[in-house]
Amino acid sequence: MKALILSGGMGTRLRPFTYSMPKQLVPVANKPILVHCLENVRAIGVEEVAVVVGDRADEVRAVVGDGSAFGLDVTYLQQEAPLGLAHCVSIAEEFLGDEDFVMYLGDNILAEGIAESARAFRDERSAARLLLTKVADPRAYGVAETDATGRVHALVEKPERPRSDLAVIGVYFFTAAVHDAVRAIEPSARGELEITDAIQYLVERGDRVVADEYTGYWKDTGSPDDLLDCNRVLLGRLHPGVHGEVDAASTVEGTVVVEAGAVVERSRLVGPLVVGAGSVVRGSELGPYTALGRDCVLEDAGIRDSIVLDGVSIQGVRGLSGSLIGRSAAVRTGEAAGRRLIIGDHTQAEVAA
Ligand code: G1P
Repeated sequence: MKALILSGGMGTRLRPFTYSMPKQLVPVANKPILVHCLENVRAIGVEEVAVVVGDRADEVRAVVGDGSAFGLDVTYLQQEAPLGLAHCVSIAEEFLGDEDFVMYLGDNILAEGIAESARAFRDERSAARLLLTKVADPRAYGVAETDATGRVHALVEKPERPRSDLAVIGVYFFTAAVHDAVRAIEPSARGELEITDAIQYLVERGDRVVADEYTGYWKDTGSPDDLLDCNRVLLGRLHPGVHGEVDAASTVEGTVVVEAGAVVERSRLVGPLVVGAGSVVRGSELGPYTALGRDCVLEDAGIRDSIVLDGVSIQGVRGLSGSLIGRSAAVRTGEAAGRRLIIGDHTQAEVAA
């Protein structure tokens, strides 16, 4: 089985981060979302992966490289414009040949992996195998209707009046039968070749399309709150370990990872928490639910429930929570009489009223 991982798209809801990186590279628990996807794919025994990239291809290549760091052989396929998920399958047709494959949207987090569905797909080799989960508002997703045996009878993309509460998760298993379907469909009202239409084509043709209800944690990471939610869940699953230096005047509670080369002095660390390699934390209170990237400097700082990217400095500011702080940003007390902000386009700042 091969894998097709999609890493294009605009990520407008994650500005300003997506001005300088594709949304799939935003880190959760100190690892880009895309890397969580690659690991899940490797864990089901896949080695050959094509990553579909858009106009942020260079950043993706810089992180994933040839894939060998993840035990994978990665090929890149350029998508000139975001023309839909089924369009991605069509540009991968040559790479995929007539092999079975898993298509994985590079912004989806499935915390328990995809091993069970992969096993079932390999046993049964239905034309398509989907993963579904119950959601409160299915109108934002592909929605499936299934029978008691898990067979899919209908699939609709973002219906105004959903006929079930089962949303399609962004991981799909296919045999080569899907290529006929992709060739047969027309662009949708939003101008995209929809994978849901391709799957519906298979259903109508009488091909076997089945689905599993995913009972683990799933998130399509579109917004800062989604990322913070994923961060909380994935931090909770880290294996604790202090590989850097933590002095005797500091305290460590709960699941805490201090990566090699990090230095912690006179601070209180409350897990789940990760302190990235090369970061320096002094006189600060960190966590719970905080991912601090590499090479950050925190002095007399307090932060919880947040994602802090690489190279950030926070000095003299406490009480930060629910925050996403971009690369090399500086947050500090200063000379200004009031509150001074030098922040980028589409940035959000919230201060106490
Ligand atoms: C895509 C699919 C949709 C699916 C969702 C899962 O939607 O088109 O069927 O439910 O991913 O993340 P998009 O995120 O492109 O709006």
